[in-house]
Amino acid sequence: MYGDQRQKIKIQPLPEHMALQALDIYHVYGMEHQNKVVALKGVSFDIKRGEILGIIGPSGSGKSTLLLSMGGMLKPSAGQIIFNDGTDITKLPEEEQFSFRRHNIGYVFQEQNLIPFLTAEQNIEMPMKLIDVPRAQRKAKVKELMERLGIWHRRLHTPTRISGGERQRVAIARALANNPKLILADEPTGSVDSDTSIQILELFQELKDETKTSFLICSHDPIVGEYSDRTLEIRDGIIIGEHGLGLDLSNLDSSRLLVIDNQNRITLPEKALVGLKGSLLYTWELKDEGILLKPLSQKDEKLEQKIKFCTSCGAEIKPGTYSCARCGAKLTRIVR
Ligand SMILES: Nc1ncnc2c1ncn2[C@@H]1O[C@H](COP(=O)(O)OP(=O)(O)OP(=O)(O)O)[C@@H](O)[C@H]1O
Ligand SMILES: [Mg+2]
Repeated sequence: MYGDQRQKIKIQPLPEHMALQALDIYHVYGMEHQNKVVALKGVSFDIKRGEILGIIGPSGSGKSTLLLSMGGMLKPSAGQIIFNDGTDITKLPEEEQFSFRRHNIGYVFQEQNLIPFLTAEQNIEMPMKLIDVPRAQRKAKVKELMERLGIWHRRLHTPTRISGGERQRVAIARALANNPKLILADEPTGSVDSDTSIQILELFQELKDETKTSFLICSHDPIVGEYSDRTLEIRDGIIIGEHGLGLDLSNLDSSRLLVIDNQNRITLPEKALVGLKGSLLYTWELKDEGILLKPLSQKDEKLEQKIKFCTSCGAEIKPGTYSCARCGAKLTRIVR
């Protein structure tokens, strides 16, 4: 490889405490002449070493796209994804990317993707085989993980002969097999009962403390919010807010920190929009305490009455609100 190409792949290593930095990630689905979907619209964030970072957002907001991009399984249309050692995964040639992934990243997919003709035990062993871990070490790791996740008694069963929750635990054990620095998990508690969810999240917490593993987890499950050190809120491919430890999904407005992203965008919460009378023109003034926004004109009442149903999912919209309670889509006009 030529020197200048190599420079682009390896940038400055990140500070010791950071696992990953994503900068201005865009992802557009659809080839030329097809309908295009811009699933990520300039997303920037970082993950610290030994941190559980949650991602929440309505269906279709870009969570899975974001996760797949972080692991190099989807090549973002633009942006950089830099790991702690300075590797930009978006710039790696395919072969090097496979190897980087196998050594550094573990995945738990929304649809578990286990190999159907291998036993649970063989599925978990597979990532270790791919990086030539010696047999005895592989067997010991499989046993340790399966016991920790309470599925050792299922080791000889193929994925179709175990329950959905057990399959999920096999998928998690497989993701952890190579002691990756980063685990990407899409709805890891989606198909398990609440006791198993707690068991999985407690295991994640132990690993983050023991080995400084970092976790990026997409989920609709309130319990994931409780176990995440931080949670990012994504809407329509944009990160609109951030929450600290112990997130309460039913009351996001109380803990949301607003994000002004790298594109200088800010998404105002429902309460602020209602106070400001919706999206119109404002004058603004920089004050010592913050920014003062004042609506420039009164809203056209007739326009405000038009929206009764969400334009994204069709659910009825509660009067006096600016967003859909079912899918989270933002409306541009208040409903009366
Ligand atoms: N392969 C694809 N081709 C075209 N569009 C896609 C593809 N995959 C996802 N999309 C679109 O990109 C957007 C983001 O999808 P994504 O799967 O990332 O959402 P999500 O937040 O994970 O949703 P869910 O909570 O339902 O899993 C959606 O509008 C979706 O329809
Ligand atoms: Mg998804």
